[in-house]
Amino acid sequence: MGFPNNFLWGASTSAFQVESAVNEDGKTDSIADVRSRKMSVASTDMASDEYHHLHEDIALMKELGLKAYRFSISWTRVLPNGDLSVINSKGLSYYQKMIKLLKDNQIEPIVTIYHFDYPMALIKKYKGWLDPNSINDYFNYAKFLIDQFHNQVKYWLTINEQEVQVFNPNMLGIYDNNASKLFEKAQTANLNMYLGQAKIIKYVRENYPNLKIGPAVSFPTYLPATMASEDAWAAKKQENIFAFSLMDIVIRGKIPKLYLNWLQKHNVHWNLTISDKKLLKQGKANYLGLNWYTTQRLTVVDHKVKEVKIKNAKYTEWGWAYDPVGLRFALNQIQERYSDIPVIITECGWSEREKLENGQVHDPDRINYLKDHLLQLNKALHDGVNVIGFCPWSFIDLLSSHEGMAKRYGLVYVNVNDRGKGDRKRIKKDSFDYYRKIIETNGQSLFESN
Ligand code: BG6
Repeated sequence: MGFPNNFLWGASTSAFQVESAVNEDGKTDSIADVRSRKMSVASTDMASDEYHHLHEDIALMKELGLKAYRFSISWTRVLPNGDLSVINSKGLSYYQKMIKLLKDNQIEPIVTIYHFDYPMALIKKYKGWLDPNSINDYFNYAKFLIDQFHNQVKYWLTINEQEVQVFNPNMLGIYDNNASKLFEKAQTANLNMYLGQAKIIKYVRENYPNLKIGPAVSFPTYLPATMASEDAWAAKKQENIFAFSLMDIVIRGKIPKLYLNWLQKHNVHWNLTISDKKLLKQGKANYLGLNWYTTQRLTVVDHKVKEVKIKNAKYTEWGWAYDPVGLRFALNQIQERYSDIPVIITECGWSEREKLENGQVHDPDRINYLKDHLLQLNKALHDGVNVIGFCPWSFIDLLSSHEGMAKRYGLVYVNVNDRGKGDRKRIKKDSFDYYRKIIETNGQSLFESN
C-alpha cells in the first residue's frame, strides 16, 4: 500500500474554461470563444476569471498542497494572429508570471499547448486544420512556448483530446451539411494534427531530451453491455477507433491497419509521404496524459452501437457512470499495450450542480469519487502501471466544455452562475480539505478512512 514519494498530486484546468478576460490585453477569439457564444449557457468571458485572480488561485493551490498544476496556455493570448507575425507581450507575461509563481511555490507546471481553443484568425485565413499550413503554425506556436519555458516546465501536453475534436468537428471550426464530406474534412484535420504534433515531439526529443512530451487523450473504459460477442466486439472496436488509434500513432509512431481500413470504409484515404511516415516514427511521445472519467457499456441493436445505462448504478446528472474499477481496468490496458510508459492522469472528476449553504459547499459525492478512484489507482500502481501523477478535473469551478457554469467539477467553488452573474468569490468545498489531507499524507489518509 502507498504511493511513490515523488508522486505528482495535482489538479487541472484549461485556459478558455477558467481564465475569462477573453478580449483583454490583446487576446483574440478562439473557436472555443465563438462556439460558447452560440450556446444558451454561459460563454467563455463569463468563466472563473483566473486571469484577474491569479495570486489568489495560486495561494489556494499552495494551501491545498498541490505538487503540480495542469493548465493550458491560450494560443490567441500569446499569438493573436495564430502565427508568429505578432507576439503579444502582455499575454506572454501573464504566463511568465503564472509559471514563476507556481515554481516559487514548488508547484510543477504541466502545460497543455492546445486545449480546444484554436485561433479564429487561422480559421479565417485558411480554414485552420484543414490546410497543411496548420502543421507549421502549430509547430511554430508550440516551439515558441517550449523555447521560452523549457527551463521551468518539464511536462508538456501537445493536444488535448484530439479524437474528441475530430469526432465533433465544430470544435475545430469545421462544418458541412453533407455527413460524409464532414467526416472526410475532420479526418484531413486529424492527419494534419498528427503531423504537427509529431513535428514538435521530434523537436523536443532532439533539443530538450530531459523534457516529457505527449498527448492528453480521452480514454473512457468501454465494456460490452451483455455477454454477446457482438457487444464485446463493439466495445473493442470503439476503444480501437476512438482511443488506441490515437495512442498507437503518437506512442508507437505507426497508424494501425484497423484504423486505415475503417477510414477506407468511409472513403477516406490518407496519403502519407515517406517523410510523413518517418516523421511519425521520429515524433513519439515519451509520456501520456490520460483523461479518464467513466465507463461506457455498449450493445448492438439493429446493427447500431448504443450505450446502455445500468439500472440502479450511479450516474452524474449528465449521464456519466460512476465506475472506479473501470479506471484500474483502463490503466492496466495502457500498461499492457505500451509497457512502461509513464502516465499522468490529467483529468478525472465528478460533476454536480452545487450551491452555497451558509457560506459552505458540501460535496460528499465528489469526496467519494476521489476516494474510490484513488484507491483503484493505487491498486493499478501495484499491478505495475507506471502512474506518476494524478490531476483531478478540476482545481476550481470552471466553464464546462459545452454545458455552462452550472456543471461544476471544482475543489474550489466560484460564485458565478450560468448567466455570468456573481462576484467570483472563491470558497473551498469540503472536497478541498479531503484532498488536502490526501496530499499531506501522500495518500495514507485514503487507507485510514477505509
Ligand atoms: C474533457 C475536456 O473532455 O472533459 C475538458 O478535456 C472538459 O475540457 C472535461 O471540461 C469535462 O467535460 P464537460 O463537457 O463536462 O466539460
